[in-house]
Amino acid sequence: MNRPYVTINVAMTADGKIDTYERQGTKISSEQDWERVDKLRSENDAVMVGGNTLINEDPKLTIKSPTLRADRGTRGLNENPIKVGVISNASLLESSRFIHEGATRVILCTTHQTSPNQIRHLQNFGVEVLCFGETRVNLPIMMDSLSKNGISRILVEGGGTLNSALIQEKLVDEIIIYLSPMIFAGGNSPTLADGFGLSREDAIHLKSVSFVQLENDGVILHYQVIN
Ligand SMILES: NC(=O)c1ccc[n+]([C@@H]2O[C@H](COP(=O)([O-])OP(=O)(O)OC[C@H]3O[C@@H](n4cnc5c(N)ncnc54)[C@H](OP(=O)(O)O)[C@@H]3O)[C@@H](O)[C@H]2O)c1
Repeated sequence: MNRPYVTINVAMTADGKIDTYERQGTKISSEQDWERVDKLRSENDAVMVGGNTLINEDPKLTIKSPTLRADRGTRGLNENPIKVGVISNASLLESSRFIHEGATRVILCTTHQTSPNQIRHLQNFGVEVLCFGETRVNLPIMMDSLSKNGISRILVEGGGTLNSALIQEKLVDEIIIYLSPMIFAGGNSPTLADGFGLSREDAIHLKSVSFVQLENDGVILHYQVIN
């Protein structure tokens, strides 16, 4: 099976949390880091998020910088990367920013839990709906299909459940972390990799590529995944 080159990017507190216990998508990154993420988006063919992030945060996932959008245009690309959502039961609101903001393809990877009516409804908005399984999205088959759809590089922007599943299925090549000098605490706050944990002997190993300190005391940690 083929798959795209996959990079996970997260903004995380010093205690490993990617949101507060409220799980509504709180601000963690700095302005300087947002510019880095904008550039990273512009270098990828697609940006992917998990279903809970889609529903609770409704991210636009578009490129903010007009210069970066124009640059993609001169490279013969759509000005925004394709948006990909991974969601077992796709019950998105009609007003969803994920669906409507920014002119680009929107692909929802879902399962047969999403009813034919709901699929037709989403398709009426121009959303491409792909089914990969009965109850949960089969991630290796999804990646193979996205690769066949011409997607060579994907940036995954959370959340913790999707990140963890992709890492554990050995579908991730790089992890980039903006580490913020803050602590959110709490056993219910999401982390970089949630879901069911691994034993020590099954731990995923990383190779450090670089770390950069930003002006607000945040640090960018860049790892390669040893698959
Ligand atoms: N700081 C950051 O960089 C950042 C970025 C993004 C999100 N976040 C935060 O992360 C939190 C959301 O994360 P989350 O862990 O709750 O959810 P998530 O990772 O956003 O979403 C997981 C979704 O994927 C679906 N799914 C379908 N097939 C799957 C599979 N094979 N493996 C895994 N998931 C599959 C799940 O559906 P079912 O479980 O229904 O089957 C669920 O809807 C929010 O608090 C958000 O703000 C932080």
